[in-house]
Amino acid sequence: MTRQVLVENEPLVPAAALIAGSAIPVSRAAQPPALRVADLTKTFRSGFARRRLRGVEGVSFSVGRGEVFALLGHNGAGKTTTIGCLLDLVRPDRGEITLLGCDHRDRRARARIGYLPERPYFFDYLTGRELLEFYCDLLDVPRRERRDRVDGALRRVGMMPDAGRRLGKYSKGMLQRLGLAQALLGEPELLILDEPMSGLDPMGRREVRTLLQELKNQGCTIVLSSHIVPDVEQLADAVGILREGRLVLNERLGALADACAYRVRAAGCLGEAARCGLPPWALSGGGDTAAAQGPADLAAADTQQLRELLDACHAAGLPVLAVEPRRTGLEDLFLRTHEHGTVVHGGKA
Ligand SMILES: Nc1ncnc2c1ncn2[C@@H]1O[C@H](COP(=O)(O)OP(=O)(O)OP(=O)(O)O)[C@@H](O)[C@H]1O
Ligand SMILES: [Mg+2]
Repeated sequence: MTRQVLVENEPLVPAAALIAGSAIPVSRAAQPPALRVADLTKTFRSGFARRRLRGVEGVSFSVGRGEVFALLGHNGAGKTTTIGCLLDLVRPDRGEITLLGCDHRDRRARARIGYLPERPYFFDYLTGRELLEFYCDLLDVPRRERRDRVDGALRRVGMMPDAGRRLGKYSKGMLQRLGLAQALLGEPELLILDEPMSGLDPMGRREVRTLLQELKNQGCTIVLSSHIVPDVEQLADAVGILREGRLVLNERLGALADACAYRVRAAGCLGEAARCGLPPWALSGGGDTAAAQGPADLAAADTQQLRELLDACHAAGLPVLAVEPRRTGLEDLFLRTHEHGTVVHGGKA
């Protein structure tokens, strides 16, 4: 018999159906978002002087059913703090979190979530299989289903051959895969993964990406954190960039793919252009910044900047030789949010 889950204001839905490849039973449009975060704020106190450290401040975003949302940010940006708050492992100072239509502290919602911590801690003396059986106990998986559930999870993360080895002998990447297997055991509707690719070799990263893509295709919602831009670009439907605890960009990746920057070539060298009082942002991203000779390579992030730059060139008497559109990748945006610390593109943050 399949486990049934009660969704607030929704009919009973077999949880297994959500990851067994069947169509999503209730129309997504009729459902509340899988996750909604509003004004999340957490300040830590640290050391003898109780110095205040910003974990996150005013973070708001939401994730639709069946979507992959990536929290992207450098070390210390606030990714783990955000995820800790979602799971009620960290108590926020302020803010509201709704998981699968329920308050995030509601056990009914939490039972439908799979979680991979940033640094999973497992008992060294257990084998991989024993660990997953232990988690089946915690999840109250009926005895007759356990073997299939454990085998299924081991197979999905490619750990079947090593299932009989003790965890103390596992490599970092193998532990990470087992951590993923444990997150999948409860057949979750929402997966929350803190740095799921960490410790994996390129092959392992690709396998995990494929696995997450499969889960997504089967209707599972995934929230993951990462600082690896290509992984995010290939998987996520939407991305939130965190910088020093603030969400500086919250955008759908489709919209980013359509975003366009411009490269402007102007007669005269860059030093000359700088002296002409062109905006500083135009001088920094143009590529050939070191060139003392040849046309100045200037950059505009969007059409409004392009207009400003062309006006400035005209006012300075610098002839414009060419204007080329340039696709703005997520990598570009990520770097620019960190250089300038501002919302750089259509952000709702
Ligand atoms: N328990 C804690 N006590 C004090 N400060 C903390 C605590 N947890 C996090 N912080 C601080 O909050 C900020 C955000 O940390 P967080 O772990 O959320 O970052 P992160 O984006 O997950 O970084 P990483 O990529 O290194 O995992 C950092 O300045 C960190 O030092
Ligand atoms: Mg972290």
